[in-house]
Amino acid sequence: MATQMKAPPSTKGEIVDVGYAYKHLVDRVSPGGRYIDAETDVDSPWVPFGDSAAIKHLAFDVRQGIFSNILWMKGPGVIGTHLHRGTIVMVCLEGTVRYLEYDWVATKGGLILEVPGESHTLVTEHPDGCKLFGWMQGPIEFYDDNANLIETADVWWMMNHYEEYCREQGIPINEKLYV
Ligand SMILES: [Fe+2]
Repeated sequence: MATQMKAPPSTKGEIVDVGYAYKHLVDRVSPGGRYIDAETDVDSPWVPFGDSAAIKHLAFDVRQGIFSNILWMKGPGVIGTHLHRGTIVMVCLEGTVRYLEYDWVATKGGLILEVPGESHTLVTEHPDGCKLFGWMQGPIEFYDDNANLIETADVWWMMNHYEEYCREQGIPINEKLYV
């Protein structure tokens, strides 16, 4: 039976050429890993999302319908009821947030998982609101008070939200966000 390593090798703080057989293919066709700064506006600006919230777009993957961003609610407020058609992974970076439909409150560092087919209503009661990092897949359907569908936000919606703001503000489009 194979033995499991206790920890990764850590004796050599240098690059090791692992000799990967398909590196030439990776070099040719991979979009490549990357680092996107989220602390400053250098890589991506805060784009207004209504009067009291903003979104910092971090990634758009049109093949998988994935988009990543930080949602900043600047004070107590609500993101109205919405239905997810895909899988959502979020981390609460600052403040607190909860959903009217669930019995938990997310705090700093907490992981939020959402699954397709669930609808919910996001509320922050924290005086400073919240910042939520999201890695999100699939469309999000937003409904009004009478359960009428008013907008479907998917990777294209998010991309347009980012690009329109950049054009308005004269900010260059950052190709790094297109993964
Ligand atoms: Fe949600």
